[in-house]
Amino acid sequence: MARILGGVTSSHIPAVGNAIANNLTQEHYWKRFFDGYGPAQEWLQKVKPDIVIVVYNDHGLNFFLDKVPTFALGCADMYHNADEGWGLKPVAPFQGDAEFSWHLAESLVEQEFDICTCQEMLVDHGFVNPIRALYGTHEKWPVKAIPLAVNTVQHPVPTAARCLKLGRALRKAIESYPEDLKVVIFGTGGLSHQLQGERAGLINIEFDLECVEKIAHEPEWMTKFTNAEIMELAGTEGIETIMWLVMRGALQDDAKLIHKHYHAPISNTGAGVLVMENAA
Ligand code: DHB
Ligand code: FE
Repeated sequence: MARILGGVTSSHIPAVGNAIANNLTQEHYWKRFFDGYGPAQEWLQKVKPDIVIVVYNDHGLNFFLDKVPTFALGCADMYHNADEGWGLKPVAPFQGDAEFSWHLAESLVEQEFDICTCQEMLVDHGFVNPIRALYGTHEKWPVKAIPLAVNTVQHPVPTAARCLKLGRALRKAIESYPEDLKVVIFGTGGLSHQLQGERAGLINIEFDLECVEKIAHEPEWMTKFTNAEIMELAGTEGIETIMWLVMRGALQDDAKLIHKHYHAPISNTGAGVLVMENAA
């Protein structure tokens, strides 16, 4: 049967792709941020997942504002990155697993998560940069990857509670797949940031640190906030943090915290990393 080994969360700042592509990761500005990924990289090398499910939001590359699915699952065997900022060369394409994706889609719909299924999907910085920060640069990626997009861009955005439930449904979906697959879930985005309007530049370190702690140990805490309250506290783009709850819901309730890191500001964001592991 497929098994969930654990989960990793990470911000997905576009400037990270530029820092990696231009060898800036050891410069003073970036060093502490990238140091936060060391234990996560080591954990991934130790547990060696066959496939990662990357929960992220599309930022207008694959879906534009005219058509925005609340939840969309990649059901392809290959996913291409496209240049959507910084003038960077797209990274190598990612191998998916369409058969596994269709199983997930079927199980999620049976569990009343009526997701959009995508047989073609371009992936942006939300998907690519956490993988680059966690696996380095490759011409052929050492792991398969499946995109699971959550709308955090255009109102109405799903609630934190809904994201936690999606994670729990995803857990059931994965664990009912008959093939022996080792799966890790990445939750990306956040933490606090706002890129627009009068409050552009907002970062809330106190709230971020509480989110990191509570998502690890008491994820229901986050579901008491409305999306408006989260945006008030964490900025409009800080709402991306709800995607960490999809990762958390997919793990065992008592999954073990292996690593956490926080760094602010980096680019416009308060950035965090969590690594959590399921018991065998
Ligand atoms: C930044 C962060 C994001 O999550 C994003 O999608 C775009 C920009 C930033 O910090 O600059
Ligand atoms: Fe983002």
